Amino acid sequence: MRSLVVNCKAYTEGIDRAVAIASEMYGISKRYSDVDFIVAAPYTLLRDVSRLTKTLAQSMDTIEPGAFTGHVSWYELKKAGAVGTLINHSEKRISIREVEKAVNICRDNGLLSYVCASNLREVKKFVKFNPYAIAYEPPELIGGEVSVSKAKPKVVKQFTDIVRSKANSLALVGAGIKTPEDISKSVALGSDGILVASGIIKVENWEETIYNFCDALS
Ligand code: G3P
Repeated sequence: MRSLVVNCKAYTEGIDRAVAIASEMYGISKRYSDVDFIVAAPYTLLRDVSRLTKTLAQSMDTIEPGAFTGHVSWYELKKAGAVGTLINHSEKRISIREVEKAVNICRDNGLLSYVCASNLREVKKFVKFNPYAIAYEPPELIGGEVSVSKAKPKVVKQFTDIVRSKANSLALVGAGIKTPEDISKSVALGSDGILVASGIIKVENWEETIYNFCDALS
C-alpha cells in the first residue's frame, strides 16, 4: 500500500477545499484500495475531514493536557478525529529533542507520527526514534516546480535505503511534486508514497490530479 498525503497547509484553497478533497478520496478509495488516502488538515477542520478519510494534524505541541493555553495536545487531536500528526514540517520546525518527544507521545497515545526531515543528516537522527513515517522534503524545493525525485534522485535513493535498513518507518518524499511522473520516479527510487501540497491544493483540476496521482501510486 502506498500513501497519498495531501497537506492543506494554511492555503485559503486548502481550507476551502479540505472537506471536498477528503470527500473525493472517500469516493475513490474502493477503486484505489492499494492507496492510503490521508489529508493533513488545519486544526479547525480535523473533525469534518476525519469523517471522510484518514486525517493528520499539521503539528502537535509536546504537552500533556492541562494548563497550556493555546497549545494543542495529543488528546485534543484524538478527540478531533486525527489518526496522527505531521511533526517537524519545515514550515513548523522543532528541535531534535522535541521531535523525539513528539514521536514518543504519539506512540504512547495511539497516534501515528509522520516526521519530516530536510536532509539525510536529520534522517539519520530520526530513524533512531522509529516513527511511523519519515518524509524527506528538501525545503528549497517545497512549493516549486521541480520535484524532489527529479532534482535529487540519488539522495532519495539513499534516503529510502537508510529508512529500510534502520527503522520500520514508511519512507515518504515530498516537495515540488506536480506530475504523475514525479510520483512514479519516487516510487521507483523506493518510496512508500508522497506528501504533496501545491500540486493538488493550488490547481483548478485537483479532482483529476488526484486520480492521476493514484494511478501513478498504484
Ligand atoms: O508537506 C508537503 C509539502 O511541504 C510539499 O509542498 O507544495 O511542494 O507539494 P509542495
